[in-house]
Amino acid sequence: MPALVVVGLQWGDEGKGRVIHSLARHAHAVARYQGGNNAGHTLVLGPNDILALHLVPSGIVYPKVHCYIGNGVVVDPKSLKQEIEMLTQRGVKVRGRCWVSPLSHVILPYHLQLERYLGEGSRLGTTQRGIGPSYRDKIARAGIRIIDYLDDEIFKERALANIQELLTPFAKPEEIRVIENQTLSDRQSLAPFLKTIARDVSIELHAALKKGRRVILESAQGTFLDVDFGTYPYVTSSNPVAGYAPCGVGIGPQAIEVVLGIAKLFTTRVGEGPFPTEIQDDLAAQIRETGHEYGATTGRPRRIGWLDLPLLRKACRINGVNRLALTKLDTLSGLSKIQVCVGYSLNGRILKELPDGLRALKEALPVYRELPGFTGDLTSVTRYADLPKQAKRLIDLTLDYCQTPAAIISVGRRPQNQIILDRTFCRTWM
Ligand code: IMO
Ligand code: MG
Repeated sequence: MPALVVVGLQWGDEGKGRVIHSLARHAHAVARYQGGNNAGHTLVLGPNDILALHLVPSGIVYPKVHCYIGNGVVVDPKSLKQEIEMLTQRGVKVRGRCWVSPLSHVILPYHLQLERYLGEGSRLGTTQRGIGPSYRDKIARAGIRIIDYLDDEIFKERALANIQELLTPFAKPEEIRVIENQTLSDRQSLAPFLKTIARDVSIELHAALKKGRRVILESAQGTFLDVDFGTYPYVTSSNPVAGYAPCGVGIGPQAIEVVLGIAKLFTTRVGEGPFPTEIQDDLAAQIRETGHEYGATTGRPRRIGWLDLPLLRKACRINGVNRLALTKLDTLSGLSKIQVCVGYSLNGRILKELPDGLRALKEALPVYRELPGFTGDLTSVTRYADLPKQAKRLIDLTLDYCQTPAAIISVGRRPQNQIILDRTFCRTWM
């Protein structure tokens, strides 16, 4: 029963969509297990053909792959409909192969409004997609699942009660009435659409795995945005870590054969929160431009920093990563020197893993090892042996520090721009 989890090891935007693009061609299914349309998974299909996916799993570009949105995801029905329409317009046939779990919770207009009233956009730098408020309702046992959305009576009662209760402290009665009307009228047009794509994801995946078919579980965000393991409170409201993957789609954990951790060979972060290896100078701007480091969901410039190995090592442990995919080696080409964080100095001690706690994250000083840079266009390199010597040094240092083998190194934006290091893995999964 082989399932593979693709999990981000940093603060999101590690290249999860790009790696799935090169993995999913022969998979039976790709399923998202948490998050919502805060994700932005970029797939480069051609020289000027870039696709940004937010809710629909990255397998959708392959006509035979089934795509599932699991119970752990929060779904904005309007946004999902728009995304499916966008894909259809671009010639991707979605009908009959993209399904959403009836147990997924929905994001309604009052969630978006509430996020604004709570100031989470500016305080935490959220994507303002209503993600936090929707998960908040879920945990408070007041949420609305798709199965409830499709039930006239349950929907009306719960949605109107929530709107009154949650918005009254912030909004005037006439403003609340506008939200109520919008919610009811949206549902009129969106419920029939959701009805056609609602399917029991757990049953479907279970059947596929029983037949020995390959299933890829796609995380959104990354380990340090995880609500338990991330840099709390500067996190998202779900669990991107691999341990949540089976829960977020309704299968047992023993189905998972591979945990493929995705890490960029530098670090980025969007939104507020600790980022110990962040760099601010012209070099940051240079890497941002070369690497197209702008948010695929919000367009915000991403914060840029050096590769943080204590952070990666911790992520490998928490997720049980047994294969790595290292991305964006090509972006570093042309830098005269590359810094790599190989430890943290805190209260006279050297730490080999990123510490927890906001104070420790602030006080811990990164210890850097300086590596000489490398040059040249790496995008057509397909063999490790053909990489510049200094690029190999960076890779070797990373693998050694994480004590985890790599399956893939990406050297460009297209799926073919990669170096396969683990042939057995690739024969099974590609
Ligand atoms: P992908 O899947 C990077 C960040 C936001 C903010 C924090 C909380 O493309 O890697 P939220 O809207 O989730 O409540 O915001 O999480 N964030 C991401 N950063 N990549 C993402 O997704 C992200 N999704 C959310 O910027 O700091
Ligand atoms: Mg992204």
